[in-house]
Amino acid sequence: MDSLIGLVNRLQRACTALGDYGGESANALPTLWESLPSVVVLGGQSSGKSSVLESIVGRDFLPRGSGIVTRRPLVLQLHKTESEDGASAQEYAEFMHAPRKRFTDYAAVRKEIEDETARVTGPGRNVSPVPIHLSIYSPNVVNLTLMDLPGLTKNAVDGQPESIVTEIEAMVRSYVEKPNSIILAISPANQDIATSDAIKMAREVDPTGERTWGVLTKLDLMDKGTNALDVLEGRSYRLQHPWIGVVNRSQQDINKNTDMMSARRREREFFSSSPEYSHLSSRMGSEYLAKQLSKYLEQVIKSRIPGIQSLINSSIDNLESELDTLGRPIAGDAGAQLYSILELCRAFDHVFKSHLDGGRTGGER
Ligand code: GDP
Ligand code: NA
Ligand code: MG
Repeated sequence: MDSLIGLVNRLQRACTALGDYGGESANALPTLWESLPSVVVLGGQSSGKSSVLESIVGRDFLPRGSGIVTRRPLVLQLHKTESEDGASAQEYAEFMHAPRKRFTDYAAVRKEIEDETARVTGPGRNVSPVPIHLSIYSPNVVNLTLMDLPGLTKNAVDGQPESIVTEIEAMVRSYVEKPNSIILAISPANQDIATSDAIKMAREVDPTGERTWGVLTKLDLMDKGTNALDVLEGRSYRLQHPWIGVVNRSQQDINKNTDMMSARRREREFFSSSPEYSHLSSRMGSEYLAKQLSKYLEQVIKSRIPGIQSLINSSIDNLESELDTLGRPIAGDAGAQLYSILELCRAFDHVFKSHLDGGRTGGER
């Protein structure tokens, strides 16, 4: 059976592709898209948001650095691929704005994100709420949909208008306030957690903490003699899900091109050899975070199947009546998209039903 996350990924892609064709057909599905859960990264500028995403993926592909680097939301869909003969499947990335172009070089992926950001925001340092969609197909990822967002900031820089501060805040809020967003609240351990932008906004939009995961970055940068045990052990800022600490690559590592796999190894060593954190080491680090998130996302999707299913059914109705209004057959991309998403919805309805049956009748995609 297809993984639930895989199914939802495909639905999200289909909804977005349809939306991109604009016109009336774009109206048939926005509620469906909104209802699909995904993981959203929240935090202050340079708190380590993009680094955490890269660590989860285990690949080095995001623009990073100081200042406002992430200037458009990035919807990142990870698809775990398995090859039939046991040989390792080929890994590649694909952008929705450039379908059928397969990227196998992650430096080229980073360049394309930068170029595509500039295409919409212009040459300056402006931000735009229009997301970039990127899919990564790999045997080495967990099924997960993640969103990278611009960081919350207190001051405009580089000749940006002052309004950029509130603009970013509103954009970020519009994503994290959705009840279907799972919030990855990123706080750097070398700053006072009481001043964390991520925790502040997460508390506002999710007061009970049921959809917030606290992630503490930069544990390696804390002052000697201090540690983050009060946070990691849930004493100072208790959340419903346990806090997870990570150690990402430093700027120096990035400049030296330290690869992700040795960075992960070093992260594991950091926790297992640390006198303070070794008792927590099996519940720390990016790999653990990725696994927990994937498990949790699957759980959330499962609990929402009935709701998603009824939305799918009403989407099917909408699409059918729209096709009737337009008259069949419809020529061109928009028509083809409408038909294919209708087919997808019907297929999903079927597969979701079989998941509800406990998987006994499943098997079809
Ligand atoms: P973003 O602005 O929140 O997306 O932050 P980035 O991921 O771009 O990281 C900002 C800077 O902090 C980069 O230079 C990273 O190398 C560095 N950084 C992020 N996480 C860590 C960490 O856990 N340890 C260390 N030493 N540096 C980190
Ligand atoms: Na940054
Ligand atoms: Mg970033």
